[in-house]
Amino acid sequence: MSTQRELTDRIRESVIPERGEIPLFVYSDPDVYALELERLFGQTWLFVAHLSEVPKPGSFVVRSMGEESVIVGRGDDSVVRVFLNACRHRGMKLACEDFGETNMWRCPYHGFTYGSKGDFLGTFLGAPFERVAYPQGLDRAALHLLEARCEVYKGMVFATWAKEGPSLEEFLGDVRWYLDLIIGRAEMEVVGVPERWVVPTNWRLPSENFISDAYHTATAHSFLSRLDMVKGADFGRDGYHVDPGGGHGLGVGVHVDGESYFPAELAGEYAANLGEGQLETLARIKNMHGGVFPNMSFLIPNFIELDGRRVSGAMIRVWQPAGPNRTQVWSWHLVEKNAPEWWKKLGRRMYTQTFSSSGMFDQDDTENWEAQTRVSDGALYRKDEFVLHYGMGLELPPLPSDEFPGPGGVYDGKFSEAAGRTFYRVWLDHILREKTR
Ligand SMILES: [Fe+2]
Repeated sequence: MSTQRELTDRIRESVIPERGEIPLFVYSDPDVYALELERLFGQTWLFVAHLSEVPKPGSFVVRSMGEESVIVGRGDDSVVRVFLNACRHRGMKLACEDFGETNMWRCPYHGFTYGSKGDFLGTFLGAPFERVAYPQGLDRAALHLLEARCEVYKGMVFATWAKEGPSLEEFLGDVRWYLDLIIGRAEMEVVGVPERWVVPTNWRLPSENFISDAYHTATAHSFLSRLDMVKGADFGRDGYHVDPGGGHGLGVGVHVDGESYFPAELAGEYAANLGEGQLETLARIKNMHGGVFPNMSFLIPNFIELDGRRVSGAMIRVWQPAGPNRTQVWSWHLVEKNAPEWWKKLGRRMYTQTFSSSGMFDQDDTENWEAQTRVSDGALYRKDEFVLHYGMGLELPPLPSDEFPGPGGVYDGKFSEAAGRTFYRVWLDHILREKTR
C-alpha cells in the first residue's frame, strides 16, 4: 500500500508515452484503479446510450458511469437527462430494471417516488404516509435526483459529472469527422438491446486495442481467414492510422476494388448526411476501428461475405470498469433504419459471427486480454522493471494534410501506435490532476 502521493510520483516517473514506455503494473494495481474512478470516470465525458434506446417520454435505460449506476431518461420536452440511480432518502438503487417505460420511479426500500416524465423528470414527488411521517414537511428541492451534465452528438448520449469543463463537441474534437462515418452517415437504430458479458481484464487493454492496435489482427485473427471460417476478411497494413487528439484514436482499412462496399440503396441518405471527403472515405472503407477516450469503442467490422454479398455494419462498445482486473463489456449493434431488408438480415448474422458475445474475433481478443492480465498481476511485485513497448511509428511523421481528407494526425498505413501514446498522455493528465468533482 502506497500513499497517493507516492503512487502519483511512481506513475509520473514510469509512464512515459512520448518514449512509448508504459509499465505493466498500471493495469492491475488497485490503487491506480481507485485513482481512475475518481479522477477519470468521475470527471470526463462518458457514452451512456443511443437516442433510439429512449424513444419516447417516460422511456429509460439503466447504465453505468464508472462503477456508478445511472438512469438515462427522456422527458416530455424530448430532452434526455441522466441521473445517479440512487434514492436521496437512503441511497438505495432506484431503478432496478435494465430498461423500461414508466410514469415514475419508486424506491423499492421505503417507497420514495420520483418523476420520470416531463417537467417532473428526476423530481421528488412524494413519500408513503408523508403527512404523518414528516409532519414538518420535506425539502423537495433537496431530494431531487443527482443529475449529471448530458449532451448528445449524432444520436450518441454522453454524460459527465464535471459541472464545468469542455462541451461534448469540444471534448470529441476531430474524432467527430470519423464518428460521423459510423453513426452519422444515416439515421441509425440499435438492434435489440446491448449485449453484456464480463471479461477478466483491465478495461484499458480492450480500449487501447480498438484505438491503436491494428497490428494484432494479422496474428491474432489470421487463422479465421486461413481456415476460411469468416469469408472475405483479410488483415493487413492498407489504410491509415489516425491520432485525432484528445486520447481518441482509430484505424481505417481501405480496399482497392474501386466500388463502395456499402449498399447502393443508402447512397442518397449517406450523401445527405456526409461531406465530400467523408463520402470519398466511406466508399473506400473495408473496416474502421477506433475509440473515444476513455472507454467507448466504435467499429465498422471487416466486410465479410454472406450469401454472396459483402456485409458489415456499425457497432459501439463500452468497456465498463468493474475492478482493476474485471471489465463488463457492453456491445451495441446498430443499423441504418432505412436500410434494405437484406442488409439488416445479413448484418445480424455478421454481428453474431464476428464481434459479439458469440463472435469469433472476440474469442481471439479475449484470450489475449485475459492472459495479459494474469501477467500484469505478477508485475505488481516486480516494481517497474516490466515496461511495455508502445514505440511503433515513433519516428514516422503524419501525412501532409492534402493527402487525406480527414482531420488529425493521419499516418500512412495502419501500423502505428501514435494514438495509443496520446491516449496515455491524456490519461496521465487526468490521473495526475488533483481535482475532485
Ligand atoms: Fe482484435
